[in-house]
Amino acid sequence: MAGHRTIIEVSDAAALAAAAAERLIKRIDANKERPAICLTGGSSPKRLYELLATDAYRSRIPWERVHWFIGDDRFVPESDALNNMAMAKGAFLDHCAPAANIHAIRTDAASPDEAASLYARELQAFHGSDRLDPARPLFDLVLLGVGPDGHVASLFPGYPGIEVTDRWVVGVPEAHVKPFVPRVSLTLPPLSSCHEMLFLMSGEDKRAILGRVLAGEDLPANRARSDGETIWLCDRAALPEGDSV
Ligand code: 6PG
Repeated sequence: MAGHRTIIEVSDAAALAAAAAERLIKRIDANKERPAICLTGGSSPKRLYELLATDAYRSRIPWERVHWFIGDDRFVPESDALNNMAMAKGAFLDHCAPAANIHAIRTDAASPDEAASLYARELQAFHGSDRLDPARPLFDLVLLGVGPDGHVASLFPGYPGIEVTDRWVVGVPEAHVKPFVPRVSLTLPPLSSCHEMLFLMSGEDKRAILGRVLAGEDLPANRARSDGETIWLCDRAALPEGDSV
């Protein structure tokens, strides 16, 4: 149901990576043409990415057909350890995916705004339209992590990017939390345009912000909802007392 959120509890970070991998493979299997996955940065997805590169999972993914995008990136060169797509490439894409299926944000563009326009065009070319249609989602799966201030991708609370609905991608000149580097981020409309939005919440560091999200606070993490299914995959350490499911 669109807008509805389902919370799934798993025991720990290893179980979370395994559960996320199964959901990702299921979404890929459901699309017999060109599945599109929107990855996330930060530390939360690393274990999942490494798992996908292991033989057991690697052999279950039709790599030639799957296309990989990213929800946001830090505006730093690909050689910089802070670059989100470089992390995903190092963890699994470079070992498994054809280079032509990896759609990185161009952090070598002249500015975050220029990188945002280029990425919007790339997404629209892939989609075959510059219109989003709930009946034909852009992505099969959108992975998201949540920052300590409730941001998703690089859509920070109180910043203009969170309100943007007429552009698919925006430049974010300043970050609200570390690392304090400019960002480039998808906006809510393309992030929502998916069959499934999958939040990854692991470890006690996430407990405080998860409590605020579950209390219904107006945060980017609460505004991000899939046109299809919205799933919060949480391990026990991340779930606030009393929120066990
Ligand atoms: C980024 C992100 C960001 C991230 C959250 C959670 O570039 O920083 O894409 O939205 O997902 O901040 O980060 P952690 O997984 O490191 O906690």
